[in-house]
Amino acid sequence: MCGIIGYLGYRNAYPILIEGLKKLEYRGYDSSGISVFFKNGYNLYKSKGKISELENKIYSSGIIIKGNTGIGHTRWATHGSTDDINAHPHVSNSNDLVMIHNGIIENYHAIKIILLNNGFTFKSKTDTEVLVNLIEYIKSENKLSLEEAVRISLNEVIGAYSIAIVDKSNPETIIIAKLGSPITIGVGNKEFFIASDPIPFAQYTKNVIYLRDGEMAILRKNKNLDLRKIINNNKLNPIIKKLKINLKEIEKGEYKHFMLKEIYDQPKTILDTLRGRLLISSNEKTIHISGIESNKEKFINAKSITIIACGTSWHSGLIGEYLLEKFTRIPVEVEYASEFRYRDPIIGKKDIIIAISQSGETADTLSALKLAKSKGAFIFGICNIAGSSIARNVDAGAYTHAGPEIGVASTKAFTGQITVLMLMALKIGIYKSTIDNKLYKRLCKELNNIPYKISKVLKIHNYIKKISKIYCEENNFLYLGRGINFPVALEGALKLKEVSYIHAEGFPAAEMKHGPIALIDDNMPVIVIAPIKGFYEKIVSNIQEIKARKGKIIAIINEGDVQVNMLADHVIKIPSTHEYLCPLITVIPLQLLAYQIACIRGENVDQPRNLAKSVTVE
Ligand code: M6R
Repeated sequence: MCGIIGYLGYRNAYPILIEGLKKLEYRGYDSSGISVFFKNGYNLYKSKGKISELENKIYSSGIIIKGNTGIGHTRWATHGSTDDINAHPHVSNSNDLVMIHNGIIENYHAIKIILLNNGFTFKSKTDTEVLVNLIEYIKSENKLSLEEAVRISLNEVIGAYSIAIVDKSNPETIIIAKLGSPITIGVGNKEFFIASDPIPFAQYTKNVIYLRDGEMAILRKNKNLDLRKIINNNKLNPIIKKLKINLKEIEKGEYKHFMLKEIYDQPKTILDTLRGRLLISSNEKTIHISGIESNKEKFINAKSITIIACGTSWHSGLIGEYLLEKFTRIPVEVEYASEFRYRDPIIGKKDIIIAISQSGETADTLSALKLAKSKGAFIFGICNIAGSSIARNVDAGAYTHAGPEIGVASTKAFTGQITVLMLMALKIGIYKSTIDNKLYKRLCKELNNIPYKISKVLKIHNYIKKISKIYCEENNFLYLGRGINFPVALEGALKLKEVSYIHAEGFPAAEMKHGPIALIDDNMPVIVIAPIKGFYEKIVSNIQEIKARKGKIIAIINEGDVQVNMLADHVIKIPSTHEYLCPLITVIPLQLLAYQIACIRGENVDQPRNLAKSVTVE
């Protein structure tokens, strides 16, 4: 979703802004813009489309942009179409205030009417232009400093925001503020960086401040940062954290796309998820998850678990439901965070909420967890991004340690989430004695083998390329799975939709006959996840039903399978594993298939149209 970048210091701001915007591209955007300030003025350029189009526009203007203060933005349209006018930065009526914004101002319409009645005019359709003019109005009416006008205005708005604003008459100050949408500050030596996440400034400084909801910061050249509460202007002490980013992790290296790199990263990222948590020796198998250990009684006495998440994280939640119910015997529900937050869910002190989110910034998941918190539930987070909003708002949690995921289509975060959920299920199962000790040991041992088995699946990539060539022109796909592989069918279909724009649906295989079977004819490829362990005979029957209607079958089978091997049009052979660990293996060929089909169709795999990596608005 929208990306924010800014610089204040002694360097030329322009290249920092442009390079920073490029590092934010992965969040998803449809237009971009920058503004660089000099004494009593600024250059401002915006363009719809890619950042290269913005660069071309600036280049062809012939202007050399110079200045040590600047702000930049990638916009993911909410209010108003994707064009140059609606792109950020937005400027107040006097042309003095320049602002960028991520989020949605829900009461912008009411504010706009007040401003229109007071003579203000608007060029764009955005809520951002309304906010920058509200700030200007409050500033000039009450003869206030910019920081006080920002503070008072933000107390008037309903919605979510992270903003950065500069007054052209004082280009040595940037004011930023946050509620709901993320913003971080990089603190260098006599310089500040601001960005939606620390990736754009990681090469300059590892000192980072994660602004919290309801906070604003006044950044002044050669001065200490001034952190305040928006509600009452109380001064706060900034907490500077050390960034732990390996810069190599945010580069594609030898791979053509981040998505491919991240698929290939999985043997390593799962090892990273397991590191220090799964301890295996010849006779001991121990799991350590500090977030569970320090809240042992909560988990032992839990009345229910509700998993809240969106998209791919919701799919891993569905897999978590199978794992947690099976091994802990605690009733589990999985909810779309976006629905949960608007119901009146029946949860209380004895219930546990597991919030799953790669980015840790998904607005729906964050709101849903806040609602559950207000009802007294214990909140456990599974996030990939350390220090993210969700990670900061939970009672306890476990990071997936999958490293930065840049491709918009989530891959390695998904397998990281499943790995954490498996560790949790086993640990709680042992605490509650709801898992047989022998099975526990077998699963620990097999979990440890998963990275190796994924490496084996990655070796059949060339074969998957061949299958992709055969099916790349299709317009529809069905994905079927049963038991714990049903959510994998959903995830396979989502991956294909996201990167190739082919219509795809996932179903539990047995549901076919209740409707989707009407779609089957000789034009319908059906991907069936058919490992030997778990409903094999039943899946064989489902395959027969499809064959009888001339559907084309691509089956994910185990090495050594005979029956499905004979029935399917094409088979993808993967190593076998325990039924409850299957999703970690079966999803890999589906990720590769989606990736390859999208590549053959010439789609922008890492930044698919209309999608954002981190969905920070409702
Ligand atoms: O960051 P989160 O895990 O909370 O994101 C949730 C979804 O937006 C995300 O999984 C989305 O569905 C991805 N595009 C999936 O590839």
